[in-house]
Amino acid sequence: MGMNYLHRVLCRSALWERTSAKKIVPWALAGLDLGDSALEIGPGYGANVRALRDRAATLTGVEIDPELAAGLRVKHDGRLRVVEGDGAAMPLADNEFSSVVCFTMLHHVPSPSRQDELFAEALRVLRPGGVFAGSDGLDQLPFRLIHVGDTCVPVPPETIADRLTRVGFTDIEVDKRLSSFRFRARRPGS
Ligand SMILES: C[S@@+](CC[C@H](N)C(=O)[O-])C[C@H]1O[C@@H](n2cnc3c(N)ncnc32)[C@H](O)[C@@H]1O
Repeated sequence: MGMNYLHRVLCRSALWERTSAKKIVPWALAGLDLGDSALEIGPGYGANVRALRDRAATLTGVEIDPELAAGLRVKHDGRLRVVEGDGAAMPLADNEFSSVVCFTMLHHVPSPSRQDELFAEALRVLRPGGVFAGSDGLDQLPFRLIHVGDTCVPVPPETIADRLTRVGFTDIEVDKRLSSFRFRARRPGS
């Protein structure tokens, strides 16, 4: 879950914020309605906060790194509610959110079984009918190089539909492009 120095500098940069907010978020969320209450797992330095606030009236972020959580509270005061915690064991009530999203963070969750626990937690905190969506990098050389010395457990996109189905999601869609994939799924019920 740690990030090496280069990775921290990259994640904090204006270039990353632009790339994520203008290229990753719009692609990952195209055509989706986040409803009134969105949760972002792993907001980091907050690159996606403004883009998400354009799409949802209220935003909560669950961030595992205490320093990043504290930084978000200062930098994005009033834009999101920050909860320090692990996306795979969230200190949040059941059925709270109309949507749960995550971007470029699943590979920081240190094992496939922990990633599956995060998927199960996303389902639990969603209202019935709520949407879970996100994006991450494909397992390619540049992605691996950025993560030398870091946790890096890329999610093979071919495995996601089965893994999300197993924890209870339906209506799963997964797409790939050059260096990333996106997924979306729905909690059954209405
Ligand atoms: C590469 S950064 C991406 C940050 C942001 N999503 C973005 O797109 O710029 C990954 C973030 O996920 C956080 N993270 C890693 N594992 C987590 C977990 N289990 N629960 C919550 N956040 C986590 C890290 O601390 C870091 O802030």
